[in-house]
Amino acid sequence: MRLIHDAQEMQSEVLALKKLGKRIAFVPTMGFLHEGHASLLREGRKLGDILVLSIFVNPTQFAANEDLGNYPRNLAGDMTLAEACGTDLLFAPTAADMYPAGFQTTVSLGSLTEPLCGASRPGHFNGVAVVVTKLFGIVQPDVALFGKKDFQQLAVIRQMTRDLNLPVEIIGMPIVREPDGLAMSSRNSYLSPVERQQALCLYQAIQKVRELFSQGESSVERLLAEARRQIESVPSAVIDYLELRDGTTLTPVGLAGKGTLFALAVKIGSTRLIDNTLLGDEP
Ligand code: PAF
Repeated sequence: MRLIHDAQEMQSEVLALKKLGKRIAFVPTMGFLHEGHASLLREGRKLGDILVLSIFVNPTQFAANEDLGNYPRNLAGDMTLAEACGTDLLFAPTAADMYPAGFQTTVSLGSLTEPLCGASRPGHFNGVAVVVTKLFGIVQPDVALFGKKDFQQLAVIRQMTRDLNLPVEIIGMPIVREPDGLAMSSRNSYLSPVERQQALCLYQAIQKVRELFSQGESSVERLLAEARRQIESVPSAVIDYLELRDGTTLTPVGLAGKGTLFALAVKIGSTRLIDNTLLGDEP
């Protein structure tokens, strides 16, 4: 595996590989890799001749009051995991390289970025959209893989790719969970042992909503009330949002049906966690 920091060097490398007819699979990340990222890399390994991983903690997707400064980092550990998953090129640029003085382009989407995480993190998806557009420009992937835990992010990236005719296939990969159900996330490392236990309420809410839905319950109010009860059984949990929305457009639904998205964001202590499920779909 080769580690490349410079954007121009990275682009020249992939352009040369593409001239040789190589198919580029790309997994963009912010590092502090876990099994969820490993699942993307392993799938990427199958889909491309060359597997590229990027690690960049993107400042433009964090608001001033968020955890940019504390975001966990471990390049050495990430390199070990990346190599074990068959990564060929690891792109780890600096913020100064990605956003040099005078940078002024924005990429912003419409209604898809307004609800859910977009409502509680204004500007977040513009930051994601601009960095992913840049990364696609640098890495020139044929296929790029993203996790479904960031369901709205995946929807935004799919939309942006379609709207801008970006020549890359977007693959969404299933959420990877700890044995007790907690969705894997780099931010889980912020949780104390007690909070780690409390964080299970997100998955318990998901299980409850899925169970009620499978028993025929379709009332949005009743499903959300039960989810709220699960979360509120943990006194320190603070709900950011609990919502049932259309799984494609992310618009509100009158009744829950197959393919309805149940998405939630909950703060456990100072750690904001997200999770989701599509009702009637694989768990
Ligand atoms: O999901 C992430 O890790 C990030 O939001 C991404 C897509 C790498 C953009 O910074």
